Amino acid sequence: MSFHTIIEPFRIKSVEAIRFTDHAEREGALEAAGWNVFLLHADDVLIDLLTDSGTGAMSAAQWGALMQGDESYAGSRSFYRFEAVVRDLTGFTHVIPTHQGRAAERILFHSTLQRGDVVPNNNHFDTTRANIEAEGAEARDLVIPEGRVPALVHPFKGNVDLAALERTLRDEGDRVPLVIVTVTNNSGGGQPVSIENLRGVRALCDRFNKRLFLDACRFAENAWFVKLREPGYSERTPKSIAQEMFGLADGCTMSAKKDGLSNIGGFLALNDDRWAEAARTLLILTEGFPTYGGLAGYDLEAIARGLEEVVDESYLRYRIRSIEYLAEKLHAAGVEILLPAGGHAIYLDARAMLPHVRPLAYPGIAVVNALYLEGGVRGVEIGSVMFGRQPDGSEQPAAMELVRLAIPRRVYTQSHIDYVAEVVIAVHRKRDELRGYRITSAPAVLRHFTARFERQS
Ligand SMILES: Cc1ncc(COP(=O)(O)O)c(C=O)c1O
Repeated sequence: MSFHTIIEPFRIKSVEAIRFTDHAEREGALEAAGWNVFLLHADDVLIDLLTDSGTGAMSAAQWGALMQGDESYAGSRSFYRFEAVVRDLTGFTHVIPTHQGRAAERILFHSTLQRGDVVPNNNHFDTTRANIEAEGAEARDLVIPEGRVPALVHPFKGNVDLAALERTLRDEGDRVPLVIVTVTNNSGGGQPVSIENLRGVRALCDRFNKRLFLDACRFAENAWFVKLREPGYSERTPKSIAQEMFGLADGCTMSAKKDGLSNIGGFLALNDDRWAEAARTLLILTEGFPTYGGLAGYDLEAIARGLEEVVDESYLRYRIRSIEYLAEKLHAAGVEILLPAGGHAIYLDARAMLPHVRPLAYPGIAVVNALYLEGGVRGVEIGSVMFGRQPDGSEQPAAMELVRLAIPRRVYTQSHIDYVAEVVIAVHRKRDELRGYRITSAPAVLRHFTARFERQS
C-alpha cells in the first residue's frame, strides 16, 4: 500500500481547548507584555509555536509509565530503567540525570572549562553559549558557510566546517577542552549533520586529543535525515543510525524535552570516569542525588519510554513530513524561509522579508509580533535580540535574523498547520507596513526571555 498522504500516526484520546481572541484583545495583551511574546499569558495564544521543548504530547504508554515511578531517594528502580535505555541508545558508561538540558550543560562546563577556553560547535544554542560564557570561555560557531545562507539548499546544512575546526585545534588547541556538535543544529535552522561530517570531526578530535560531545536534543530527527539523505543509510533503522552517531562521540548533553518526548528532564552521559565524578559531585550540590538528578521517579519512566518511542519510523516519517508540508506551502506563496525545512521548525527569514528594518531594529521581533496580532500564533525571534549582545555589553547584528515556528511533537493536526500557513501568508502580504522595535529594558544575560520593547514609528 502506498498513499501520498502521510497521516498523524496516532489517534487523539484526550483534548485541551484553545482560546480564540480578537485583534484588539491580542494588541492589549502584547502591549501589556512589553511587546515580548515570552511575557504573554499562554491562554492568550491560539497556536503556540514558541518552542518544541517540553510542549509535546505524551503517549498513553508514557502516562501509564508514570504510575510505575519509584520515588525512592536513592537507587530508584525508575533510574535503573532510565539508565538502561540511555545506555542502550548511546553506549556511554555514565548516565547522569538532570532536570533539563541546560543543567547538563552547566554541570559539564563548570567541571571542565577554565577562563579563556574556546569551545567549538556547529552553532551553539542560546543556553549552551550562555553557560560557556558564564565560565569565562568563548563559544565559537564553526558551521559550514552554506549553513549561514538561509535560501541555499544543502542536505546537511548543520555540518561543521572541518577546515575551520582544524585551524582552531591547531592554533588554539591548548585552550580547547572539548568540541560539541549540535544535532540537529537548532540555531542554524534545525538542520542535520551527516555521519560523514561527524566522522571528520571525530578524526580531528582524535588527532588533537580532544573530547567530542553531542548536544543531542534532536538526535532522532537527525537520524531520520541521515536515513533520507546520506548514501548507504536508507535501509538502516533510525535507532541504529542514532547509535552510530553516539558511537562517534565521548559523551552528550541532552534535553529530554525534545526527542525524549517528555515535558521535563535531561541528562549528561559520558565515558570519562574523572569528568563523570566531577559532574556527579556538582550534581549533588545543585540537582540532587545521582539516581534522580532533580527529576521525579515518574519523569525518569516517561523519558525512558519516550526515548524508545521517538525512534519509531512511522512517527519520524510523519514528524519530518509535517514540517516539510508547512515549508512547501509557505515557499509556494513566496514567503522567504530557510531552506530546506528543519527537523522541528520552520524558520522565516525576517531579514529578507523586511529589508527596510535594520538588524538592530530587530526585524525578527517585528515578524513575531505581527504573527501574534494577525492570528494568535506565537513564534520566537532567533536573531539579534537572542544573539546580538556581546560578552562586553556591546551589540552586534546576528549572522541571521530568523523567526522560528517550532512545532510541538504530536500536538497539532494538519488543519492547525494549514491555519498557521494562512496567518504567515497574511503577514507576508503586509510586510512593507511592519516597523522595527527598540529595547526599553533588558537583563545582561539571555535578554530575549524578559526584554521589553517599544514600537518604532
Ligand atoms: C540545541 C539545544 N541545546 C540545548 C537546549 C537546552 O535545553 P533545555 O531547554 O532543556 O534546558 C535546547 C533547548 O531548546 C536546544 O535546542
